[in-house]
Amino acid sequence: MNKPQSSTEVDLKRINEIVSEYSERKWALIPLVQEIQNEVGYIPPQSIPLIAGALGLFPSQVQGVISFYTQLYTHPRGRKIVRVCRGTACHVRGGKTILKLVKQKLGIEEGQTTEDMEYTLETVACIGVCALAPNITVGDHVYGHMNPKMVEQLFKDGGTGV
Ligand code: FES
Repeated sequence: MNKPQSSTEVDLKRINEIVSEYSERKWALIPLVQEIQNEVGYIPPQSIPLIAGALGLFPSQVQGVISFYTQLYTHPRGRKIVRVCRGTACHVRGGKTILKLVKQKLGIEEGQTTEDMEYTLETVACIGVCALAPNITVGDHVYGHMNPKMVEQLFKDGGTGV
């Protein structure tokens, strides 16, 4: 994935080039939106009419498919995705406090991205390593047995600890 772009600096020229490669191929909606997301970091809302026009679909059909798949995004995301587990094992071992502290450190709520586009914060139902609860992931890395001090370390000076 290339660097995330804010909605004000969307490269519509590049998106048009990608879209034109899929012209009139209705079946290609998923690979097309995936390619745009890989290239731009997300699927800018202003690209939806372009996609619909090229594939002979209604914009609402394109939007419907994008909304259906949780791994497709219509807003910019941070370079690192922070996922705090809200599953039972993590919850009973202080996951709620960890989430609160991560929110405070990053200054964002769930689903939001820091202004510098460094982090997007999400919660997940289970990371799959319940024995290490409470857990969070930052990018591909799992951090187990989280405690307030570790949150402080991980996101010290806006995240230089990660
Ligand atoms: S409940 Fe948190 S990792 Fe499974």
